[in-house]
Amino acid sequence: MPLVCLTDFQAQARERLSKSSWDFIEGGAGEGITRDDNIAAFKKIRLRPRYLRDVSEVDTRTTIQGEEISAPICVSPSGFHCLAWPDGEMSTSRAAQAAGVCYVTSTFASCSFEDIVAAAPGGLRWFQLYVQPDQQLNKQLVQRVESLGFKALVITVDAPIVGNRRHDIRNQLDLKMNLMLKDLRSPKERNSIPCLQTSAISTSFCWNDLSWFQSITRLPIILKGILTKEDAELAVKHNVHGIIVSNHGGRQLDEVPSSIDALTEVVAAVNGKIEVYLDGGVRTGNDVLKALALGAKCIFLGRPILWGLACKGEHGVREILNILKNEFCISMTLTGCRSIAEINRNLIQFSNL
Ligand code: FNR
Repeated sequence: MPLVCLTDFQAQARERLSKSSWDFIEGGAGEGITRDDNIAAFKKIRLRPRYLRDVSEVDTRTTIQGEEISAPICVSPSGFHCLAWPDGEMSTSRAAQAAGVCYVTSTFASCSFEDIVAAAPGGLRWFQLYVQPDQQLNKQLVQRVESLGFKALVITVDAPIVGNRRHDIRNQLDLKMNLMLKDLRSPKERNSIPCLQTSAISTSFCWNDLSWFQSITRLPIILKGILTKEDAELAVKHNVHGIIVSNHGGRQLDEVPSSIDALTEVVAAVNGKIEVYLDGGVRTGNDVLKALALGAKCIFLGRPILWGLACKGEHGVREILNILKNEFCISMTLTGCRSIAEINRNLIQFSNL
């Protein structure tokens, strides 16, 4: 049977992956409340279509940080793509380039950043940083990806420690022991500086440290994991260029709001000063439309990319992106939106379901 929607890929990926890999990808933190809410909250929103408009041509193109993408559907950072497919992030990179969307590469990519760029030299890429306790290593990493042509620095703020993921504890999954956790230093630095800590995440990183990053790079800085208006206001005050509203797919603190529920408060606080994006629970074209109608400039996909990889490697990720782009185009057409600029809050009705 053909795979026609993202959840078809989810079912097939489950059959293909080992139990511990499946649990690692799919699992949420704690009781999984937020992970499930991310999806359920989208389904409580209803659409208000407008008819009798000329929808013979529908244009899904938009921009993020000034760069054009074919649709507001991009790839969230996730670590260890080699768990899902042998050449891991190289396949993801090629698929994102073919789809004309942005691929946010994780600090914990299982392929080297150089190989990921070489696999798809023309693709738009951002780099996601888990701030390291070692400042020297942060500097090396950021300057290395900047010189490799990554176009933005995404700093993940919701993971000073790893969330409580019961499945991974039960499965005794230890990615640090796993060979997949690579040395983050560039090959040159590896020889000259012997014992850098390369796997921990900084627990002390805070607002005042952002100016240091701004002093070492010209890349726009985007904060991933903001959920409140208070932090959104601080982000604007600290001159960052964007926010990804995200709860890490429900993998960090459980029982925080779903991403789509948190979006409205963040968008209002930012008041158009910087771009706001969203990830978490996006599975259909209607979900994409709802997120944009509520103020997101673009959405990012986490788990569905790994399902695509697990099923068919590069082709699976291409199919995931194409299916969602097609669904989104249908959603735009059937609600009377001919361009991204025509998507607005009037399309939304919150139901009492
Ligand atoms: C993630 N996520 C993540 N985020 C991040 O900033 N750096 C990372 O390395 C990872 N790694 C990671 C691994 C796996 C297996 C998953 C599922 C997720 C979180 C990711 O970027 C994103 O926020 C969520 O996955 C979005 O939710 P959905 O689309 O999975 O519902």
